[in-house]
Amino acid sequence: MELKIYKDHHHLSDAAANAIIELLKNKPDAVVCLASGETPRLTCRLFVEKALQQKTDTRLFTFIGLDEWVGIPPSNDGSCHYFFQQELIQPLGISSGQVYLFDALSKDPEEECRKMDKTILDKGGIDLVIVGIGMNGHIGFNEPGVSFENYSHVINLDETTITVGQKYFKTATTLQKGITLGLKHLQQSKKVLLLANGAKKAGVIQKTVEGRVGNDFPASIMQTLDQGFVMVDEEAASLLGQRK
Ligand code: GLP
Repeated sequence: MELKIYKDHHHLSDAAANAIIELLKNKPDAVVCLASGETPRLTCRLFVEKALQQKTDTRLFTFIGLDEWVGIPPSNDGSCHYFFQQELIQPLGISSGQVYLFDALSKDPEEECRKMDKTILDKGGIDLVIVGIGMNGHIGFNEPGVSFENYSHVINLDETTITVGQKYFKTATTLQKGITLGLKHLQQSKKVLLLANGAKKAGVIQKTVEGRVGNDFPASIMQTLDQGFVMVDEEAASLLGQRK
């Protein structure tokens, strides 16, 4: 794992956006997986801006959504689906055949998981995955206690996730389960970027980078990934010992 510290959220997002652009230049049919949320929003916007400016070919890559709130429809602006539509799919005119998102309304969420795993396998694996980190150390919806060996799965959301997750919704919303790629997908991806910005993420970044590796704090898996990069701004890095 490599730690990269940037001046602020903009510099961090710029570097992450460049990573997607570079990948698509070298491998236009790459498989890219992104998280939604506040952290990667600027990365998405800068990626779209750069791709349009540089006329990057975005017609061939495969886009995979990291996770979704079970039971929340895509029309709800707090859903991950809605985020991807607004921030990537519509602005770049990405065709529906390129996009794989979990169907949060599926009657058979387990089948959704198997479908996603098969898609990733059939496409030769994920080239680049960009994730955020939750306030309980989750990645996607890989909540504390999750197995590092999981592929896609449905999971009961942790209390922290249910509480913090309200920030995405205009009105109080019942959140119970998540559907998510697993940590095994992260381990098998060719490149993994974990992004975090702001002082409120300083504690979880310290645990991610310097804490004991274990499933009680899923993001600690980053320490085990040779192809993993923890990319943070100075505020999120402020509790790291190696900066003293
Ligand atoms: C959410 C999502 C994650 C996201 C994380 C951090 O609950 N399940 O995929 O990365 O929490 O979100 P944010 O970037 O808004 O802090």
